[in-house]
Amino acid sequence: MSSWGDIPEWAHGLAQSLMQALNSADPLTHNHCCRVGEMSRKLARDAGLNEYEQKMAEFAGIFHDIGKIGVSQEIISKPGKLDPKELDIMRNHPVISEQIIKPIGDKDAFFKGIIPAIRGHHERIDGEGYPDRLMGERVPLLARIILIVDTYDAMSQTRSYRKGLPDEIVYAELKRCSGTQFDPQLVRIFLQAHKTWNSLVIEPETYKEFTEFNASSTKKAA
Ligand SMILES: [Fe+2]
Repeated sequence: MSSWGDIPEWAHGLAQSLMQALNSADPLTHNHCCRVGEMSRKLARDAGLNEYEQKMAEFAGIFHDIGKIGVSQEIISKPGKLDPKELDIMRNHPVISEQIIKPIGDKDAFFKGIIPAIRGHHERIDGEGYPDRLMGERVPLLARIILIVDTYDAMSQTRSYRKGLPDEIVYAELKRCSGTQFDPQLVRIFLQAHKTWNSLVIEPETYKEFTEFNASSTKKAA
C-alpha cells in the first residue's frame, strides 16, 4: 500500500458515535473492538506500515465487528455450537459491518480504504474463510492483521461460558494455524512483538475514553 492522505477531522467523532451505539447494544463486543483497533494499529506498525496505514488498521479494527449490532445476543453469547441458521446469521456480520461503513466510504477516501479490511476480516489465506473465500494475498493485508489480533483477543478474554486462555496457549494456536488461517509472516511478527506491547490498563468503557487514551498518535498521520 502506498496511499498517504488525510484522515478527516470528523473521523474520531464519527467513530465515537458509532461505537457508542455498539456499546449500548453489546458492551462486550464494543470493548473487543476497541482492543482489536489498538492491537491492529500496533501490529501494522510493527509490520512496517506507514502512519496512515496504521490509522487505517486501527479504524478497520475498531469497526470490524460493528455488524454484530445486527446479531441477537442469544447467538452472540451462545455457549455451544451454533446451528446452521445461526451460523449463517453470525457469518454475515462482516457484510453488515461493511454496509454500516459504506455510506461514509462513498464520501471519504480514508473510510473507503478500510472497507475491504472490514469485510475481509474472517477470510483465511487458505481460501476457507468468509464471506468471499479469498486466498493468499487476495486477502487484504489489513484484514490479515485484524484476523490475528481478533483471534488473540477472542481466545484470551474470559466470557460467561469459558475462561480466557493464557498467552502461551493462544500463541501455540496462532502458530498451529499459521499458513492456513493466518499469514505466517504476520504471525511471526505478532509473536515477537506482542509481549512488548503495553496492554490497556483499564477496560475501555466508551470509544471516547479509548481515543483519549491514545490521543498522542491519533490526530492526523499524513
Ligand atoms: Fe468478526
